[in-house]
Amino acid sequence: MKKVIMDVDTGVDDALAILYALESRQLDVLGITTVNGNVPLEMVNVNTLKILSLAGREEIPVQPGADRPLLRESEHVHHIHGDDGIGNALDGFEHNNQCEAQFAADFIIEQAKNHPGEITLIAVGPLTNLALAFRKEPNLSKWLSEVVIMGGLVSEAGRGNKLPNSEFNIFTDAEAARIVFHSGAETTLVSLDVTKQTLLSSYDVEVLEGRKYHDFVRQSTEVYRAFSKERFNLDGCALHDPLTVGYVLNRDFLKTEKHYVDVETISPLGYGQTICDFGGLLGKEPNVTICTDVDGEAFVAHFLETLGKEG
Ligand code: BDR
Ligand code: CA
Repeated sequence: MKKVIMDVDTGVDDALAILYALESRQLDVLGITTVNGNVPLEMVNVNTLKILSLAGREEIPVQPGADRPLLRESEHVHHIHGDDGIGNALDGFEHNNQCEAQFAADFIIEQAKNHPGEITLIAVGPLTNLALAFRKEPNLSKWLSEVVIMGGLVSEAGRGNKLPNSEFNIFTDAEAARIVFHSGAETTLVSLDVTKQTLLSSYDVEVLEGRKYHDFVRQSTEVYRAFSKERFNLDGCALHDPLTVGYVLNRDFLKTEKHYVDVETISPLGYGQTICDFGGLLGKEPNVTICTDVDGEAFVAHFLETLGKEG
């Protein structure tokens, strides 16, 4: 089984990504590190603990991380993820697991050192924890097998979800993203260009009827699906974070190319923009694998089949 650490800001689609990873039975989840993002860190922690408990996987350690971006103020997105960050789907749900004391960045470094070349880091929130870890331990990029990130927008100019050219995770901590992209680690970006093509519709949700996660998936995505309809006229909510796990499970879901990618951190209008040098104009070595196409249908089918396995 492939060893992974998930870095999350749970979040509706983060929660779905965690369940997808666990129920795939193909990944050895060594731990989950949390970061401020969709909602404040304290909520992210509780949501992550609840999701592990729901899945019956309380033994997986939850390591709390950064409660704010490196330099900027944070803007939370309760209007997409609900008051509590998971659409109030687990209100009153009792969980007995607790966060560990070790800081997220230190956990990542320790695990990578203990398992050199074996760990895939799946990052589906702002990249603050990863940046802190790379800055603290210069050998980390060599110890990690790869880093797979949900974030950015590389080819669809003007179709961001935070600014016209910026995606939420990168926008929330662009300075951190810059550090990660230049860390030297084998890095893949699963960007909005492809994640927007993986919609979970109300019809898809009903495929899970009678299965363990049906209620959770339906309730947690309700606000998010309504928001997606109202704002983007989409018949479903994008499975941004689950697709990032999907790439780790099956490379065939996505087509990729490697290019030089940098992050804009100065311009107010372009803050958090991921700039991909497709034409090699900057003369720099390619540093990030980007995704150019997705088999959205095959991926959503696999996601539903995996979550539906538990009865
Ligand atoms: C990303 O932003 C968050 O709101 C989601 O959880 C996802 O990681 C999509 O832009
Ligand atoms: Ca997320």
